[in-house]
Amino acid sequence: MKNKIRLGVNIDHVATLRNVRGENYPSPLQAAQIAEKNGADLITVHLREDRRHIQYKDVFLLKKYLKIPINLEMALTKPMINIALKLKPNFVCIVPEKRKEVTTEGGLNLNYKKDFLKESIELLQKKKIKVSLFIEPNTKSVKAASELKANNIEIHTGKFAKNYKKKLNNLEFNKIKSAAILAKTLGLGVHAGHGLTYESAKKITQIKEIVEFNIGHFIVSESVFFGIASVLKKFKKILNS
Ligand code: PXP
Repeated sequence: MKNKIRLGVNIDHVATLRNVRGENYPSPLQAAQIAEKNGADLITVHLREDRRHIQYKDVFLLKKYLKIPINLEMALTKPMINIALKLKPNFVCIVPEKRKEVTTEGGLNLNYKKDFLKESIELLQKKKIKVSLFIEPNTKSVKAASELKANNIEIHTGKFAKNYKKKLNNLEFNKIKSAAILAKTLGLGVHAGHGLTYESAKKITQIKEIVEFNIGHFIVSESVFFGIASVLKKFKKILNS
């Protein structure tokens, strides 16, 4: 029987919509609660250093009211590590962050601030927070994640998803597949995310090593037309059929 794939629902862009008018709606907490009731396995939020969408208070509200796990995406900085140690989410996913990017453009360079990264992973794990590293699908990054004793990797699917309809995209798919197989062999949990839609996520489900997807922009976008509940029901069905 096929393993059940977990769906992490990233609600950052509910906060984007709220912040753009400086109002207190739409509420990311309400979105997360509706997602929780309709099949989300976890809620993912990226607390960016520039606070462009999710705010400090949002993550603590989510922690207080949600029953499903929280996956906090964050940059590798001292202030962010301190927030994570205080919040104690179930999962942390360390991501690269650049001020001017529209979204997280690539995976982490695991050689950058390597000692601090190792120390941070240990600190988080001591508080029983599972740590994931957001990486590009290549051997070097997977091996480095394993050496750093991360619990999980999240494979950046951005390039694959952007070019999903193009024939040459088999190359990107194969890179993701090889990275996932190697990671699983090394004992890492394998997650995937960025830019995924119904169709591109479905294709990635062919890689059985990948057990979790984190999807945001597409879910929030579809929800404008169809509502969170119906979008999540459809997504779960697609991922697990
Ligand atoms: N996973 C990670 C680590 C991310 O940084 C993001 C974007 O915040 C996502 C998943 C979700 O990407 P998208 O919004 O394109 O679905």
